[in-house]
Amino acid sequence: MKQIKKKILFGEYVSGIGLEKALSIKPEDVIKEIKDSGLRGRGGAGFPTGLKWEFAFKEESDEKYVICNADEGEPGTFKDRKLLTEQPEKVIEGLTIAGYAIGAKRGFIYLRGEYIYILKNIEKAITNLKEKNLLGENILNSNFHFDVEVRLGAGAYVCGEEFALIESMNGYRGEPRNKPPFPTQKGFRDKPTVVNNVETLCFVPYIVSKGAEWFKSFGIEGSTGTKLFSVSGDIEHPGVYELELGITLNELLEVVGAKNPKAVQVGGAAGICVAKKDFDRPISFQGLPPGGSIIVFGEHRDMLKVLKNFLEFFVEESCGQCTPCREGNYRLLEGVNMLEKGNCSYRYLRELLTLCEVMKTSSKCGLGQTSPNCFLSILENFKDEVIFR
Ligand SMILES: Cc1cc2nc3c(=O)[nH]c(=O)nc-3n(C[C@H](O)[C@H](O)[C@H](O)COP(=O)(O)O)c2cc1C
Ligand code: SF4
Repeated sequence: MKQIKKKILFGEYVSGIGLEKALSIKPEDVIKEIKDSGLRGRGGAGFPTGLKWEFAFKEESDEKYVICNADEGEPGTFKDRKLLTEQPEKVIEGLTIAGYAIGAKRGFIYLRGEYIYILKNIEKAITNLKEKNLLGENILNSNFHFDVEVRLGAGAYVCGEEFALIESMNGYRGEPRNKPPFPTQKGFRDKPTVVNNVETLCFVPYIVSKGAEWFKSFGIEGSTGTKLFSVSGDIEHPGVYELELGITLNELLEVVGAKNPKAVQVGGAAGICVAKKDFDRPISFQGLPPGGSIIVFGEHRDMLKVLKNFLEFFVEESCGQCTPCREGNYRLLEGVNMLEKGNCSYRYLRELLTLCEVMKTSSKCGLGQTSPNCFLSILENFKDEVIFR
């Protein structure tokens, strides 16, 4: 089994050493270290973090912003909550380094509305860091000023999408926008903005203090480092696990105590439902999607009900702005209801499969582009159970 050599995020760390190192070198060199480490965003899309920072760095602007995406709305995900509860100072240190690297003086944490109980914790961390001169004016006597504020979401899943999040922070309806321009060009208040996931930012102080090569000794090529997985469902030990990228699903299932599972939803509702035949595939940016959520289904689970549950979620959470997603998710759910009643014809089912492709290619944001995944993967892997009931 590909055992984890040593944990990164849940290992030891001395607060401030990453920031001190960052401030002793040029912003370009911080960006180079992050690029060399191969760190890819942990918020779902897996975009190279150093490259994103470089885009924002190169923009000419009087103001720039960095935002920590702590919306964590994906069903089955609770890893960011754990980081913000147990180590908010590290998240803020990562955000501060990001600010230094791109030339921003202000950072924000966009906190999921339901996580309001963590707010005090984060505010306490902000106060502590200011007392230690690791945040605020003239940080560590470097002449670099950086401040952090928390903004609360109001519970919409789509507000985790970076542009919907920015629109919500701008005071408008939380709706995705067409890209380009990208947030690094025109983001919060129309200024260059970097949006990064909580977990992504948590890796930053380690990479800066210990170096890109050290980080690359974890994981596999193209998927470096470790990853936090929120694991739930029919298992003995639900919880948050830090494992190396490249671990196979089978290895993960062994660690969490899954006894003879029938299916595993990898990457949350927007991810894919994996059947036993694929349990030996690695979880990585090239393999099974390394989203934060892993939901395990035992033999007794009805996969049509599982699918119905996910689709009800998407119908509820679609912002309704574009037709393929607004109508498409509704039609897929309608099809599942017909399958449940045994009155869905093969012809109509084939039309729904075509609709999935239309949704994937023509929806405006990641919600509509990925919501058909559960329909496609459950129908493909559990045909006998779902269609021939
Ligand atoms: C519907 C939807 C919801 C999302 N929710 C989150 C979220 O809760 N947290 C997050 O970090 N990224 C979320 N994302 C991804 C963000 O748009 C963005 O890619 C990410 O915050 C960038 O950070 P990263 O590069 O560190 O991964 C979501 C995307 C979509 C389409
Ligand atoms: S894909 Fe869905 S959530 Fe995204 S903009 Fe279109 S309607 Fe809104």
